[in-house]
Amino acid sequence: MTQTIEYTRERADRFIRESKHLLRPDYRLNYHLMAEFGWMNDPNGFVQYNGEYHLFYQHYPYQPAWGPMHWGHAVSKDLIKWEYLPVALAPDTEFDSGGCFSGSAVSKDGKLFLMYTGHVVTGPDKDSDYKQSQGIAVSEDGVTFKKHPLNPVIGYDQIPEWVSQKDFRDPKVFERDGCYYVVIGSNDGAGNGLVLVYRSDDLMNWTFVGELARSEGRFGDNWECPDLFELGGKEVFMLSPQRMPAQGEQYRNLHSTMTVIGAFDGKTGRFDMEKHAQVDHGFDFYAPQSTLDEKGRRIVIGWMDMWETDMPTQNGHYWAGAMSLPREAVLHGDRILYRPVAEIENYRLNAYWETDIQLNGVRELPVGGDCYELEVVFEAEQAEQFGLKLRVGDGEETVLSYRPDDQLLRFNRDRSGIGPGGERRALTRLEDGKLGLRIFVDKSSVEVFVGDGEIVMTGRIYPGAASKGIHLFANGACRLVSLRKWDIK
Ligand code: FRU
Repeated sequence: MTQTIEYTRERADRFIRESKHLLRPDYRLNYHLMAEFGWMNDPNGFVQYNGEYHLFYQHYPYQPAWGPMHWGHAVSKDLIKWEYLPVALAPDTEFDSGGCFSGSAVSKDGKLFLMYTGHVVTGPDKDSDYKQSQGIAVSEDGVTFKKHPLNPVIGYDQIPEWVSQKDFRDPKVFERDGCYYVVIGSNDGAGNGLVLVYRSDDLMNWTFVGELARSEGRFGDNWECPDLFELGGKEVFMLSPQRMPAQGEQYRNLHSTMTVIGAFDGKTGRFDMEKHAQVDHGFDFYAPQSTLDEKGRRIVIGWMDMWETDMPTQNGHYWAGAMSLPREAVLHGDRILYRPVAEIENYRLNAYWETDIQLNGVRELPVGGDCYELEVVFEAEQAEQFGLKLRVGDGEETVLSYRPDDQLLRFNRDRSGIGPGGERRALTRLEDGKLGLRIFVDKSSVEVFVGDGEIVMTGRIYPGAASKGIHLFANGACRLVSLRKWDIK
């Protein structure tokens, strides 16, 4: 195995240690994970191991921009407060010389196994000249990882000839019926994303099983970050389709996230797609990955950003990218509900509440902030439109509004500060004439959970530090049934 000298874990750790003082705190989040320094994208290797949650992430420490991928690593007891561990993987071997791309983790015989994509640049145009294969790294202590000497364990020659010979990435491993399966994202080279399935007894020797599913012209031209899991007695296929065409108000970002409920056949590798849904209806959520924890919860976490959008912290702040709140996925009928993990409630401080207030016009709350949780229930009554304005100040506001006539909840960030604007809308039915929202604001993020978690909308915003106001508003009469607010520290 030839070593490339440029990138090593030690060099990355040293660079982070020596550069950390440069970070600008302005938009750093309080209760969401970011890279310790530099760039972060996809969550990787999400797993509970020896009782602790491990989360790895696509990481380029040297710039607040995507570059040859490393795996950053953080550990947590409660999914909210994270502690950084040394960089787990650097692109330092032949099969991953261009980057250690996304992948997953599984524990076996007390050891922690990572399976990830080795990316190799093969020509002058790094955007089109590349190849990808899958490798393994193993740790005995959950901190230091050794790459397997026989990597790749799924090589270029194991890619079926009818699919892309280049895009072959993001292995998600799971155990089932006494063996291991892995799902890997790809495309057919003709505009359709697809996913391949392989099987193994030992995580080292893999046999191709079949094609899980494919886009069929509807769901994007390349599929990234597949995941397959059981939920409430059903099977769920979660994926990140690239360049998926919008469907009405849905799938309006450049790249989307989607779940499909259906049935998986381990013999053929086939997944029968029954019902699909968007995972998050906001602006900034991509490449989610799930894990099953020791409490039996299926927890989903996503990258709280979007490719090819302007990220203001890339200029002069020395960091970019963050993770969403970890969300528990629960099956309800044929819908998946997402709820922030209960642990977040342990961080509530300074409770404030109001109940039963008639609204018509604007009402400014006597409390505000930039890191908080807000739980609010409106009763629509005669109002044409009602909602909330967050991070209000000096010409800035982030608006969440609802109109009973079109049943759309709107998240508008046109006046949210620096950074991209725009509006996302999600069809939301009132329950007994009421709309319940649970909102998490953290410095440069907003996550809105509707009702029981039927809809989630996530977006990054970059308001001025003094924009801390919270306003309620209604055009026409409506009732604020209840409002509760906590600072989250
Ligand atoms: C998704 C993705 C993955 C890839 C990784 C590279 O955001 O494009 O497909 O493994 O990012 O950083």
